[in-house]
Amino acid sequence: MRIDIISIFPEYFSPLDVSLIGKARARGILDIRLHQLRDWTHDVHRTVDDTPYGGGPGMVMKPEPWGEAIDAVIADVPEGVQNAQSAQHGQSAEDAQHAQDAEGAEGAARRESAGEDGAAGRAAAPRLIVPTPSGRLFTQEMAVELAAEPWLLFACGRYEGIDARVMLEYGRRLRLDEVSIGDYVLAGGEVAALVMIEAIGRLLPGVLGNARSVADDSFAPGAMRNLLEGPVYTKPPVWRGHAVPEILLSGHHGKIAAWRHEQAVLRTARNRPDLAARNSASTS
Ligand code: ADE
Repeated sequence: MRIDIISIFPEYFSPLDVSLIGKARARGILDIRLHQLRDWTHDVHRTVDDTPYGGGPGMVMKPEPWGEAIDAVIADVPEGVQNAQSAQHGQSAEDAQHAQDAEGAEGAARRESAGEDGAAGRAAAPRLIVPTPSGRLFTQEMAVELAAEPWLLFACGRYEGIDARVMLEYGRRLRLDEVSIGDYVLAGGEVAALVMIEAIGRLLPGVLGNARSVADDSFAPGAMRNLLEGPVYTKPPVWRGHAVPEILLSGHHGKIAAWRHEQAVLRTARNRPDLAARNSASTS
């Protein structure tokens, strides 16, 4: 998988050299490319922000550097793939704009991600992810979906966000998702992109030592959907007077699986009553 990241702080991404993701990069499973947004400015101060139209606090990221940066990244198509993302899928610009206005950027993005616009543009262009607290909530399901993509592009904004016309423009040309990692506000999209890249990267084939542990993850589609993982134990069998639950030493795999499920249900009820309610709704 190729991942491009555009940011004014590429140095935020040094953790991607370490541990699981670092190893995946070294082994060629992940090709991560960092880009400095300011490289696409043309003034001596390398300005990327300006005051918001309509007033209000803070600064907004200017559209021009973003447009040039994203155009440059998406023009760098992987070898052997024809670049078709600028073909508008046979629509005129006016048609595309009209359709966009009618269904909204996210509708267009979802329609295209469902493959309804044909495969040619998909293979040649990245899926664009814009981290923002105003986006759709990032979930394990979304991580699984994004892990199946060959090419992702993260556009990390700062300040009060990126001029909305950038999302309008690329919502027409690419599959675009504005994504939030939770109901809190970070100083910028970089940490959110790191979170998403780690969640996606560990799902790629060959990244985790034991592929089964992915299926056992909390929130994993399947049996663990809407369930948190229960407690885990290792040696020694007794530590500071606390013994490992007897059942785990019994060697009885069926009973161990049932106990783990019961623990997962208990923990979910205690820590995430919202998820527990979803489970009882779907089984009744
Ligand atoms: N940028 C600032 N806060 C964010 C959040 N919660 N999720 C994604 N991007 C963000």
